[in-house]
Amino acid sequence: MNSRSFVSIEDIGRPQIEALLDRAAFFEAHPDSRLLEGKLVATLFFEPSTRTRLSFETAVNRLGGRIIGFSDAATSSTSKGETLKDTIKMVANYADLIVMRHHLEGAARYATEVTDIPVVNAGDGANQHPSQTLLDLYSIRKTQGRLDNLTVAMVGDLKYGRTVHSLVQALRFYNPRFIFISSPELRMPEQYLQLCRDNGIEYEERSDFGADAINASDILYMTRVQRERFTDAMEYERVKNLYTLRNDMLAESKPTLRVLHPLPRINEIALDVDDNPKAYYFEQARNGVYARQAIITSALNIELPHDEH
Ligand code: CP
Repeated sequence: MNSRSFVSIEDIGRPQIEALLDRAAFFEAHPDSRLLEGKLVATLFFEPSTRTRLSFETAVNRLGGRIIGFSDAATSSTSKGETLKDTIKMVANYADLIVMRHHLEGAARYATEVTDIPVVNAGDGANQHPSQTLLDLYSIRKTQGRLDNLTVAMVGDLKYGRTVHSLVQALRFYNPRFIFISSPELRMPEQYLQLCRDNGIEYEERSDFGADAINASDILYMTRVQRERFTDAMEYERVKNLYTLRNDMLAESKPTLRVLHPLPRINEIALDVDDNPKAYYFEQARNGVYARQAIITSALNIELPHDEH
């Protein structure tokens, strides 16, 4: 694997996370730095996306680089039976960096094994979404002023939600307290609970979405039930509407609480929450541009201008 790829949040430690967050802060202050002139980035999206693809492409465009790629595998030669290996090797002939989303867990890791150019994982099945995690951490640090010692409630589909898996892994460095709220079918997988236990992290699992959990939290991280990961449509129907945040449920929450959601939302957050100052999910998505500018320039080993970071 080439060392500058960004495949899993597990691959980096606290110093690297914080270097990337500081780099993202630089790009928030200097969004149009022309650091990618002459560079070409390929975005290969084998699964649908709005925010991740468009924010990666915005990041490249704002940095003066160029983009090739596809947003629908049906328009690529994958539809004729070309393998992922051959697709990656072909694209590596054209681009300096690959950003890839794929439905198979491990696909991004595999891609790094068949090419020497950096690969950034834009989501692989229910496994990892490390660039989302970086923008989540950036959003948490920006709104709370720190990452340490926060109570983070995660609500909804904790089984298939790759964003919550990656976020638990990243926050293990910061002494969080987790409240995992889900139906029994969509519990946080055992490996992430074990990670908490191994790191001395306090957590509770519950199925009720009560005021005590909301009021104790610094971050309320809502998630969508991932219909595309269910093999049983009846099971999806049974759990899809279990957790909806309404504005009145925030009445007694901490003034500093922020509601995050990786989006898209279906009905996990009622529309009346959008105007509450504690709703932060649209700003969170905007932070994705800065986080992805940080990831791309770091993967391409591009130094920031001196004295500005
Ligand atoms: N948060 C996220 O991954 O959104 P998209 O699926 O729209 O890229």
